[in-house]
Amino acid sequence: MRKLLPALLAAGVVLTPVLGRAQEPAAPAGQVEGAAPGAAPESGSGGEAATGAEGEHAASHTPHYPLKKPAELSWSFAGPFGHWDLGQLQRGLKVYKEVCSNCHSMNLVSFRNFGALGYSDEQVRALAAEYQITDPAPNAQGEMFQRPGIPSDRLPSPFPNPEAAAAALGGAHPPDLSLIAKARSVERGFPRFLFDILPWSQYAEGGPDYIHALLTGYEDAPADVTIQPGTYYNPHFISGPALAMAPPLSEGQVTYDDGAPQTLEQYSRDVSAFLMWAAEPHLVERKATGFVVMIFLIGFAIMLYLVKRRVWADTPH
Ligand code: HEC
Repeated sequence: MRKLLPALLAAGVVLTPVLGRAQEPAAPAGQVEGAAPGAAPESGSGGEAATGAEGEHAASHTPHYPLKKPAELSWSFAGPFGHWDLGQLQRGLKVYKEVCSNCHSMNLVSFRNFGALGYSDEQVRALAAEYQITDPAPNAQGEMFQRPGIPSDRLPSPFPNPEAAAAALGGAHPPDLSLIAKARSVERGFPRFLFDILPWSQYAEGGPDYIHALLTGYEDAPADVTIQPGTYYNPHFISGPALAMAPPLSEGQVTYDDGAPQTLEQYSRDVSAFLMWAAEPHLVERKATGFVVMIFLIGFAIMLYLVKRRVWADTPH
């Protein structure tokens, strides 16, 4: 152990500059083709580039996606004492309901789960009843039928299946958003991911940071980058230079009734926080329990040490 530690430190010092460089987002050089809409992160083929000398140049600089890393925002649910801002989650639900749900499903969330956002049973029932749901069981004539939603129903999907969604939206189907905040966090690279586990930093907000960066990060494509028709340039997109989702939010689009600013920035923060809640609804309880467990373990360790001293007190070394 005494030898291992310096060896590890030395390896860290040698590797940091090398790995650090590999993690830097490379600027797209030369002609960069858009990745296929909906391409999986692994298949992001944005680096295959044009012909000739320029092509060789571009090939030697395969871009790393995302081209820009998401900014780290401060979230109420970050850190060991994180808690939800219920007002923010309610606003985020409103943004999802009025904007995102036109394309994205949230199949793993039931209406009754919204009780956790501070809504009463009546409000949840009223919200569910706004939707028409196809009952999972047929009626006495054997026909499927529609009825108003009830709290135990899952949120309905805007499209009957992913193929229909893709056909309506230019070839890419919008992913289900139930777990997206957990599914998308941009790699932080060595050595940052090591520091992320330290108790006083505990960075675990990569998902909402990414969604916020994506929603606010649309730009005009630089002159030397061509993107596929029907896609929109966004240097924050995790698997290519452009994605098939048009910028979904704009200033003043959703009316907030609590006086929060109706800006793109605020909408994006709120909906990202809401998606984090959807992906991990028990985050606050988990952190609170973890804190109590840590206190208990520290107390227990001190007690064990004192007991050990007592038990071995009369034994000569
Ligand atoms: C007009 C339809 C439409 C609307 C409205 C819409 N999206 Fe999308 N969204 C898409 C499509 C299509 C894709 C797939 C893009 C691709 O893979 O190229 C997508 C992809 C995404 C992704 C995944 C990006 C990734 O890393 O793979 C996220 C996150 C997302 N949308 C969030 C949202 C949020 C939040 C809203 C509401 C503010 C929203 N979308 C509104 C169509 C839409």
